[in-house]
Amino acid sequence: MHTVTTIAEVRARVRLWREAGQRTVFVPTMGNLHAGHLSLIEAARAHGDHFIASIFVNPMQFGPNEDFAHYPRTPQRDEQMLRDAGCDLMFMPDVAEIYPHGSQRATRVEVPGLSSILCGEFRPGHFEGVTTVVAKLFHIVQPDAAVFGEKDFQQLTIIRRMVTELCMPIEIVAAPTVRDADGLALSSRNQYLSAEERAQAPIIYRTLQAASRRLSAGEEDYTGIERCGIDTLERAGLRPDYFAVRCAQDLSAPEPARHLVVLTAARLGKARLIDNLQVRR
Ligand code: PAF
Repeated sequence: MHTVTTIAEVRARVRLWREAGQRTVFVPTMGNLHAGHLSLIEAARAHGDHFIASIFVNPMQFGPNEDFAHYPRTPQRDEQMLRDAGCDLMFMPDVAEIYPHGSQRATRVEVPGLSSILCGEFRPGHFEGVTTVVAKLFHIVQPDAAVFGEKDFQQLTIIRRMVTELCMPIEIVAAPTVRDADGLALSSRNQYLSAEERAQAPIIYRTLQAASRRLSAGEEDYTGIERCGIDTLERAGLRPDYFAVRCAQDLSAPEPARHLVVLTAARLGKARLIDNLQVRR
C-alpha cells in the first residue's frame, strides 16, 4: 500500500489504473478506523480492482461547539489496518491541501432540503461540510464507485442525491451497519462513553427494533411510534434529538406501502450517537 498526502500523487496513481482499464473504488473516512470501516473496504472488493481510502478529519463538517479538536486521530494504526485490509492507496491530506483558502472561505456544495432535516436541524452546516468535502474528494480521486455505511443513513441519502444532481459518474455502494454483540452500532464516538454509559447505549438499537417490529406488523400510527421511541430513550437516561419514521428512499414523511427507515440521534454523556433500522415489508 502507498500512502500519499497530495492531490497530484493520488491523480498520478489513479491515472495508471484507469489507463490499464481497471476500476477504482473509494472509501472516504475520517480515520480512527474500526471494524465498521473495514467492512466498507470489504464491500468495496465486489466493485472494482483497486481500493483507495482517505483519512481526513474535515473541519467544515464540525460545528463551533463540536469535537473537531478532540476527534480521535490514530494515523499510524489506521495505516496498518488499511494495509492489512488490502487497500492499495491511503490518501491522508492536510487541511491546506483540501482547503487552500481555508475552510471558511471555500466554495461549497449543498443539497438543500435533505441537509436541514433530522441531524441537519441539530447540526446546522454539518451536511454542507460533508457534501463539500465528498465532492472535492470525488473530483480528486475520480473513482468508479464509492462506499458509504448505512449507519450514517441520512449522509448516504444526501450523497446519492448529490451524485445524481451533479451528474457524477460514480456508483454509490451502501454497506450494512456493523454492531457490537449487544447491538450498539460501531462508531469512533463510542469512545466518549464511560463504562456506565456504554452499558446503557444498546437501548438505542433495542428501541429501533421495537419500532421496526410495530411497522413490520402494519401499524401506521407513526407519530405514536416516534413518541414511544423518544419516551423509551428518555426513561433510559438518554437525551434524544429525534426519533423519526421516514421513507427510506428520500427521508420524506412515511407512507404505508413504502420502504421505511426509523432513524434516531441521542446524546449520552459526551457522545451524540446515531443509528437507524430499515423496515422491509
Ligand atoms: O462518514 C464520515 O466519516 C464522513 O462524514 C466523511 C464521509 C468521510 C466525510 O468527511
